[in-house]
Amino acid sequence: MEKLQLSNTDLIVSRICAGCMGLGGGWGLSTPIDSGLEKQAAALIDRAMQLGINFFDHANIYARSRAEEVFGRVLASRPDLRQQIVLQTKCGIRWADEPAGTPQRFEFSYEHIISSVEASLKRLQTDYIDILLLHRPDALWEGEEVARAFDVLKKTGKVRYFGVSNQNRFQMEYLQSFLPDPLVANQLQMSLLHHDFAEVGISFNQSVPNYPDGWEGVMEYCRLNGVSLQAWSPLDRGLLIGRDLAGQPENVVKTAALVKKIAESYGVPPDAVALAWLLRHPAKIVPVVGTANPDHLADSARALEFDLTREEWYSLFASARGQAMP
Ligand SMILES: NC(=O)c1ccc[n+]([C@@H]2O[C@H](COP(=O)([O-])OP(=O)(O)OC[C@H]3O[C@@H](n4cnc5c(N)ncnc54)[C@H](OP(=O)(O)O)[C@@H]3O)[C@@H](O)[C@H]2O)c1
Repeated sequence: MEKLQLSNTDLIVSRICAGCMGLGGGWGLSTPIDSGLEKQAAALIDRAMQLGINFFDHANIYARSRAEEVFGRVLASRPDLRQQIVLQTKCGIRWADEPAGTPQRFEFSYEHIISSVEASLKRLQTDYIDILLLHRPDALWEGEEVARAFDVLKKTGKVRYFGVSNQNRFQMEYLQSFLPDPLVANQLQMSLLHHDFAEVGISFNQSVPNYPDGWEGVMEYCRLNGVSLQAWSPLDRGLLIGRDLAGQPENVVKTAALVKKIAESYGVPPDAVALAWLLRHPAKIVPVVGTANPDHLADSARALEFDLTREEWYSLFASARGQAMP
């Protein structure tokens, strides 16, 4: 598996990141962590390591925190593993009724950032997080307060590097202005069907409906400042790679067929083509693939076996957007 050194860090990560949202039994509230879930997590981690995938993405909230917990149990059972992987988690989303009577909200307060990281460290059974991302923008955030929390986490060795998720260019610039160290990542929804990151560049100054406001300068800001781009839901949650397409719009049905056709021409599974479309972008986007199935992860890794041609890339893009380039 090709590796990438993240700018402004000493971290060397695989070109594909294993998203851990599906570990720990999913989002159901009552599932206890049993040996079956622990075995599932261990099997995914083992296959990832065999494939050369050393980068794992978490969040404090995934599977109501059970994703981190089950991952931590595997780490605890294999003391040599922690040093071999790059561990990323997030904070900032708070569920309703935690504590009782509260609404769902976002929170980048000093107290939440610190306490969330401490809880993640405990669940993950590790002393440090390699990368902490702020999960989803908090309308009430204060740059100084976030910077104070990052400073404490860095000085105490609890977090090595910091990044964001779902932030636009101005939010990144705002936060960066308070920080002594560069932000190292922004995790955004990017995929064939969520292609605003590419649309914004080609449709500026054209009469294109649905111009993707908010995406202006995101790619360029990240590329100029060494902020690594990570793609969440890079497989459109399976939509283009075999899920039932009944009732889906024409562009989705046609794109799924094109993905399949190109996959057959390279002799790879369809998800490899959907990921290769992101990997072909020169910004070196890191897809964060969400599966708890080791065989599916192995299929995804095949995206590194070939490069899409420019013509294939644009054919897929045109098909996904439902019209030719402007
Ligand atoms: N920052 C954010 O706001 C944010 C938001 C959402 C997600 N994320 C991160 O992004 C990761 C991925 O997101 P996601 O899970 O929503 O989307 P995804 O990776 O686009 O899709 C996951 C779905 O695709 C299926 N799949 C994966 N490989 C497959 C294969 N080879 N063949 C058939 N189906 C396959 C999975 O099914 P199986 O389980 O059966 O393999 C699962 O249903 C998450 O784990 C999380 O780390 C971040």
